[in-house]
Amino acid sequence: MEVVGKDIQNFQQTVRDYSGYDFSNYSHPSLRRRLNRILLEMDTDMDHVIVRMKNDREFTEQIIRKITVHTTELFRDPDIWKKIKNDLLPSLNGQETIRIWHPGCSTGQEVYSMMIMLDGLGMLDKTEIYGSDLHEEVIEAARQGRYRFRFNQIYLENYDRVMIGEQSASAWNQRKEWKKYFHIDETRDIIQMKDYLRQKPVYKKLDLVKDPNLFLVNFDLIVCRNVIIYFNNELQNRVFDLFYKNLNENGSLLLGVHESIMGAYSKRFIRKDPFYKKAEV
Ligand SMILES: C[S@@+](CC[C@H](N)C(=O)[O-])C[C@H]1O[C@@H](n2cnc3c(N)ncnc32)[C@H](O)[C@@H]1O
Repeated sequence: MEVVGKDIQNFQQTVRDYSGYDFSNYSHPSLRRRLNRILLEMDTDMDHVIVRMKNDREFTEQIIRKITVHTTELFRDPDIWKKIKNDLLPSLNGQETIRIWHPGCSTGQEVYSMMIMLDGLGMLDKTEIYGSDLHEEVIEAARQGRYRFRFNQIYLENYDRVMIGEQSASAWNQRKEWKKYFHIDETRDIIQMKDYLRQKPVYKKLDLVKDPNLFLVNFDLIVCRNVIIYFNNELQNRVFDLFYKNLNENGSLLLGVHESIMGAYSKRFIRKDPFYKKAEV
């Protein structure tokens, strides 16, 4: 049976009452899609899910993990990464230290993309990288920096397209530049990030619904892509406020290609596509 409005409210209430999470301000359409998929996968209905969540903490955790989308890839949306490389990072190069935060970093591919790009521009050593997510499991995967190769071959094309040039994107297997950053074991189907990249970021579990900035530093760039798309307006505003307060003067925010700042907070940022620059108020 399809999930209806009251099921979503029931689900949000149960999450609030029986876990440390709060999905009250997640957008209904995306919750509905995820819940429908869970019901289909488990061949059950919403009433059973709710009863089990109330009695089985591990099951609740499992449902919560399934509700949050973790999809990510190396150099996701290559055109945006070209703009980061050509338009944004050079403007930070004059600084002694650069601080970049990736909230909702999932399994880390976005964080590795940034570090690889910074290294290519000779800026990695002076940059501090911070990554956070709602789930400890994905943060642990980010720390491991080990991804499936065949499933992710497109990574190497994205890498070439951004770092070397469009024309070389199809010749990834003849190129050697990426060996500085990751090791590929085709037999075992693994891409393994090198240790010096794995160990560089500071990671923390951080819930954008309720936590403050746990890193206790301000940032020159916040990259929060494909996260607020799951939030309603109220929660988006909370997140914009958090970002605004923790960006340095002249700091920039980068959202996903389908995300933007609307309403009251749009006055606090100046849009310089695809970036939002912190405005002086
Ligand atoms: C689709 S992934 C985006 C990954 C990466 N930023 C990208 O664009 O490729 C969304 C991530 O946001 C995280 N997330 C969802 N709700 C969150 C919250 N309240 N606080 C922090 N992270 C959250 C999820 O756990 C998931 O890993």
